[in-house]
Amino acid sequence: MARPKIALIGAGQIGGTLAHLAALKELGDVVLFDIADGTPQGKALDIAESGPSEGFDATLKGTTDYADIAGADVCIVTAGVPRKPGMSRDDLLGINLKVMKSVGEGIKENAPDAFVICITNPLDAMVWALQQYSGLPAEKVVGMAGVLDSARFRHFLSVEFGVSMKDVTAFVLGGHGDTMVPSARYSTVGGIPLPDLVEMGWTTQEKLDAIIQRTRDGGAEIVGLLKTGSAFYAPATSAIEMAEAYLKDQKRVLPCAAYCNGEIGVDGMYVGVPTVIGAGGIEKVIDIKLNKEEQVMFDKSVDAVKGLVEACKAIDSNLA
Ligand code: APR
Repeated sequence: MARPKIALIGAGQIGGTLAHLAALKELGDVVLFDIADGTPQGKALDIAESGPSEGFDATLKGTTDYADIAGADVCIVTAGVPRKPGMSRDDLLGINLKVMKSVGEGIKENAPDAFVICITNPLDAMVWALQQYSGLPAEKVVGMAGVLDSARFRHFLSVEFGVSMKDVTAFVLGGHGDTMVPSARYSTVGGIPLPDLVEMGWTTQEKLDAIIQRTRDGGAEIVGLLKTGSAFYAPATSAIEMAEAYLKDQKRVLPCAAYCNGEIGVDGMYVGVPTVIGAGGIEKVIDIKLNKEEQVMFDKSVDAVKGLVEACKAIDSNLA
C-alpha cells in the first residue's frame, strides 16, 4: 500500500515543525507548500537530509504549486501571519481571511478528499471560513486548538502536582482565545477530578485558578518571550496527534474546533468541543453536560467566536 500523503499548507515555523514530526513518525510522504519560493523547498531538503541519521522512510517535497498537493490524505493549514507581542489572535482576522480563501480554493481543486486541520488564527473563525471556501464536508474540516490548550493545562498541572504528564488529563473547551474554558471538573490526575484534589488538600483553589489563567494566556506567554512570532513546537505536535488519529483510525477523544449541530447548545458554527477522530474525520461531537457556571463561561466564549464570524461576513459577503 502506498504511503499516505500529507500536505502542509504554509511552510513557516509550524509548517516546518509539522514536516519534521510527520517524517520522524513516518506518518506518510510530505509536501510542503508556501507562497514564499525557496522556503518550502529548503525546509523539505533540510529535513530529507536528516533522514539517513534518523532512519525514517518518507519523501519530502517543497513547492509553490498547488498541483503538488493532489490527492493528499491530510492537509494541515498554517498559512497566514502569526501574532507579535501586543496583538491578540483576533487582530489577524483581516489578513488571514484572505489567505483562507486562496488555501480553501487550492484544497478544493486538488485535494477534495483530504482531512483538513486548520491551525491559522483566529482559529475558530478561520476554520469556519476555510470549510466554506473549500466546500469540503464539515466533518472533514477541523481546527486545532483544544489539544494544544489542554496540553498546556496538563503541563502546568503536572508541574504543580509533581506527577507524570501522562497521568494528567484535561479538557479545554470553547473558542481559542481569552475566553476559552479550561474545565476543572473534566480534568483529572490519575482519574481524580481537580475539584476533588483541592478538597483532598493536594493543591489550593487559588493555585488552580492561577493555572487556569496561565492556560488561557498560554499563547501570549510564548509570544511575549519569543517577541518575533508565536509558539510552534506544541501547536505542531498537537496537530500531528490529530492527523495520526485520522490516518490510523484511532478513534481518539480529543477537544477540537468542530462544526456543531446543536451539541452543547451550539448550532451551525465551529467551536472547541470534545470529539472522536477516526477514519471518518470528526466521527462524533460529544454532547457533554456543563454545570451552570461552566455553561455561562462557554456561552461567553461562543459569543466571542460569533463576533469573529460576523466580522468575516462583513469582509466577504459570500460567506454565510
Ligand atoms: N498561501 C500559502 N502560504 C502562505 C500564504 C498563502 N496565501 N500567506 C502566507 N503564507 C505562509 C508564509 O509565507 C509563511 O511561511 O505562511 C507561513 C506562516 O509561517 P510563520 O509566519 O512562521 O507562522 P507560524 O508560526 O507557522 O504560524 C502560522 O498558525 O498559530 C497560528 O497564529 C498563527 O496564524 C498563524 C499560523
